[in-house]
Amino acid sequence: MCGIVGYIGNKQAYPILIKGLQRLEYRGYDSAGVALITDQNELVVYKTRGKVSDLEHFSTSKDTSGTVGIAHTRWATHGEPNDVNAHPHYSQSESIAMIHNGIIENYAVLKADLMARGFTFKSNTDTEVLVQLIEFVRQTNEVDLFHAVQLALTQVIGAYAIAVVEKNNPDTIVAARKSSPLVVGIGDDEFFLGSDASPIIEFTDRVIYLEDDEVVRLQRGKEPRIFNLNNVEKSHEIIKLEMSLSQLEKGGYPHFMLKEIFEQPNTIRECMRGRINVDHTSVAMSGIIDNKEKFLNAERIIIAACGTSWHAGLIGEYLIEEFARIPVEVEYASEFRYRNPIVHKGDVVIVISQSGETADTLAAAELAKSKGAFVYGICNVVGSSIPRMTHSGSYTHAGPEIGVASTKAFTAQVTVLSLIALTIAKEKGTMPKEVFERYVAELASIPDKMEETLQVSPYIEKFSRIFTYAKNFLYLGRGYNYPVALEGALKLKEISYIHAEGYPAAEMKHGPIALIDQEMPTVVIAPNKGHYEKVVSNIQEIKARKGRVVAIITKGDTVIRDMADFYIEIPETEEGFVPLLAALPLQLMAYYIAIVKGCDVDQPRNLAKSVTVE
Ligand code: AGP
Ligand code: GLU
Repeated sequence: MCGIVGYIGNKQAYPILIKGLQRLEYRGYDSAGVALITDQNELVVYKTRGKVSDLEHFSTSKDTSGTVGIAHTRWATHGEPNDVNAHPHYSQSESIAMIHNGIIENYAVLKADLMARGFTFKSNTDTEVLVQLIEFVRQTNEVDLFHAVQLALTQVIGAYAIAVVEKNNPDTIVAARKSSPLVVGIGDDEFFLGSDASPIIEFTDRVIYLEDDEVVRLQRGKEPRIFNLNNVEKSHEIIKLEMSLSQLEKGGYPHFMLKEIFEQPNTIRECMRGRINVDHTSVAMSGIIDNKEKFLNAERIIIAACGTSWHAGLIGEYLIEEFARIPVEVEYASEFRYRNPIVHKGDVVIVISQSGETADTLAAAELAKSKGAFVYGICNVVGSSIPRMTHSGSYTHAGPEIGVASTKAFTAQVTVLSLIALTIAKEKGTMPKEVFERYVAELASIPDKMEETLQVSPYIEKFSRIFTYAKNFLYLGRGYNYPVALEGALKLKEISYIHAEGYPAAEMKHGPIALIDQEMPTVVIAPNKGHYEKVVSNIQEIKARKGRVVAIITKGDTVIRDMADFYIEIPETEEGFVPLLAALPLQLMAYYIAIVKGCDVDQPRNLAKSVTVE
């Protein structure tokens, strides 16, 4: 998921590669490494856990000569972040080195096959499997490196951007991509590679964006040539870059938060990859299947988390109780850890954390473990503290989240919880087959529906300006959308510094209704599911008191459309999955209100991305 840099030309490669990695630092990563073909014609690999500065430190007084090299920042998916798992990886004979961003989904099958043929592995990564496969194909078919890469990739299922160098082939870099980005920079008698153009732009503004299933041969003194996996040559367009460096890092978006909001269709695809089958009829969460008995025998599940992750947990409660019929309790990790909670041996405790480092959540997990519960983690940052100490878990695979306000991590957490609820439901037989299959197919369609939902962005940008005067906001939702109301209110508070409260819609009458007037806008999440009529009545109650209503409605709903002051349409979906769509306009609204107010959305005052203190 993280960063790739490559260089071949007349200059010394090492300083260019290091600078390139620094340019990619904004993406977040856990280790870094470089492979060079030195002036002595040696293929060397230097790599270490930590930052690019740690790599520089590690490489001091080593031979960093050479005009060909590849470099990597890793965001671990397979194998914890440590020196051995860092990239580049050597092949068995150490004559080939490779870097990779992405996931080789069928690595286990390929690895078993290679092991049976005598290959040995040093790391736990999926990446090492591919470089070994390339060497195996190269030897058995007696083909050159380029064709070996092509042939090996035909056996791979998954996502990759790779760059490969070979000791006996010092004038070539071979690179390829599928579903992970890769850019080739074209200079004067030199070529660059980058996961995006940020490591390249200071050297050249001429680039080629590789397409899926394309393999490029970058050879000193020759034109770049691009082929597909069947060895058919592909034409390519050289594009002139017109973006500044900082725009590039943010993918052309003005802020990381907006970029991350728009990444959601893809992060959810990543999150579901390999977990929903290709026919969209079944789900398999390996962490649940491997510990099936714990979940099937659990008398209850406790979910502990903080902030946005706690909101995801509340949605998880509704999903698991409805689909799998296991009682669920959701706890603030900070309360749970200090109130001497009753935890039985047969309980399953799920802790949810984007960072995997939140002190209270970590302590809650430790407490649950000490009381004999089975502890399951749902985290985004691979190899962080929580996944290391839990019994089992699932990663959300949302990629690095840089904006302090959590957006894409939230929807990925809700997706994982949906997959977990469906997996348990299937194993327990709590859902009729046709209902189960309908839900799975619907979940698989969520990324496309998110894309459709995000099209409302320009409209939200326009009307959000009107609300910057407000001192208070109320967010209302029922059922699955009550936690969405809480999350919408939290987003607004965090980045625009406007006070906002989320409430279950029916609770309005029991207090907050006293606050309603023209000055206080109410955001109502009102899809045509669940207790729709009751939410319509709530809106009427607000309108009767001259309150202004922003309603999130299902496409085609004319009733609420005519009542609300502003309405945002989301596509129709199953009730349990509405939060995955409804969260998006609320994130956008918070973002645009904060922008008009001139707030620093990526780094709001007083907040930290990872709260490692109590
Ligand atoms: C979300 O926008 C917040 N910044 C915050 O509430 C966050 O969700 C909370 O601190 C928990 O973090 P975690 O998911 O990394 O454990
Ligand atoms: N799957 C690879 C690994 O875990 C690559 C991860 C990345 O994209 O950085 O090492």
